[in-house]
Amino acid sequence: MPRTHILSTGFRVPDRVVTNDDLASMMDTSDAWIRQRSGIEERRWVEEGEAGSDLGAAAAAMALERAGMKAEDLDCLIVATLSPDHFFPGTGVFLQRKLGIRDIPCLDVRNQCTGFLYGLSIADAWIRTGRYERILLVGTEVHSTGLHRNDFGRDTAVLFGDGAGAVILGPVGPAEGGRGDGNGSAPERGILSVHIHADGRFAEKLWVEAPASKYDPLISHEHIDAGLTCPSMDGREVFRQAVSRMPEAVREALDAEGLSIDEVDMVIAHQANLRICQMVQRALGLSDDRIYNNIQRYGNTTAASLPIALHECVEEGRLRCGDLLCLTAFGSGFTWGSALIRW
Ligand code: COA
Repeated sequence: MPRTHILSTGFRVPDRVVTNDDLASMMDTSDAWIRQRSGIEERRWVEEGEAGSDLGAAAAAMALERAGMKAEDLDCLIVATLSPDHFFPGTGVFLQRKLGIRDIPCLDVRNQCTGFLYGLSIADAWIRTGRYERILLVGTEVHSTGLHRNDFGRDTAVLFGDGAGAVILGPVGPAEGGRGDGNGSAPERGILSVHIHADGRFAEKLWVEAPASKYDPLISHEHIDAGLTCPSMDGREVFRQAVSRMPEAVREALDAEGLSIDEVDMVIAHQANLRICQMVQRALGLSDDRIYNNIQRYGNTTAASLPIALHECVEEGRLRCGDLLCLTAFGSGFTWGSALIRW
């Protein structure tokens, strides 16, 4: 079976920069509080009418260009998002249309901050089994339009941002180093394994309750007035579990591959909160040059967070061919996971 590899990356964030001081003019918060609790300095918000599929299509176009491919070369599209353009159909078909392509399957993945890893797991299985050869995986989010930008929503409004990241995945053969050099001296490149988890007991610890088909009607003025359309979060429980689940998932991936943390060159953890990432770093005993963070500039972009960070990590030359990369995420559901990739 061939290995799956990430052939290229791309990203797009909206042009509009929203600083902590901007937020302080909308709600009772401060630059000092936000920096101290989350490490976030600014985030991006879309302009009116700019959708998650627009950001995703721009990120995809960049990834295609870097891979030297056209949209027509793709044979499958996977979109991870918790903020779909519309209730249905999924964001995937809108993104497909914006890329000007037809007749390839579009799968929407709804696993929040872990959505990119869930999508990676599916894409990896499809490529290894030969089902598809060129898969575009996009994480895209528009949070700003769903946040309560006032005192009521201040605990979540300051954390989330908009953006998209994309990767193109394909099989990597022996000629590209996919099976090593045959003498055991060059490591095999590509995705070694992906591990995904969920525990629905915590579903309401971080959620948006409405619109909900469980209610009749699925959205009402009462829902809006009660704040049910705004994210609701038990921040302390999320924090407590995130700092244990992500290191656990990294160790699980290493154990599965018979590798040790000393062999890992770079860890990219979901950019939930800089304090969470720092605790993950400490739990794994990683030096500063072996962890990548960019939450300071973008806030938490949920499903887009890992592919945006991966793209910037690559662009900054922090990953070299043959490096061992570990991705890990945790979020609403609760869901969490990890992936080990030989770059
Ligand atoms: N600005 C100023 N004060 C705020 C605020 C804001 N934006 N949001 C909340 N507060 C207040 C609270 O009301 C509380 O006030 P009180 O003590 O008078 O009741 C106070 O700040 C402290 O709140 P607390 O919840 O103790 O803060 P914390 O240290 O736990 O930090 C989070 C809050 C949300 C930053 C933190 O819990 C966290 O990062 N959790 C994980 C969030 C996350 O990563 N979510 C996404 C996961 S994918």
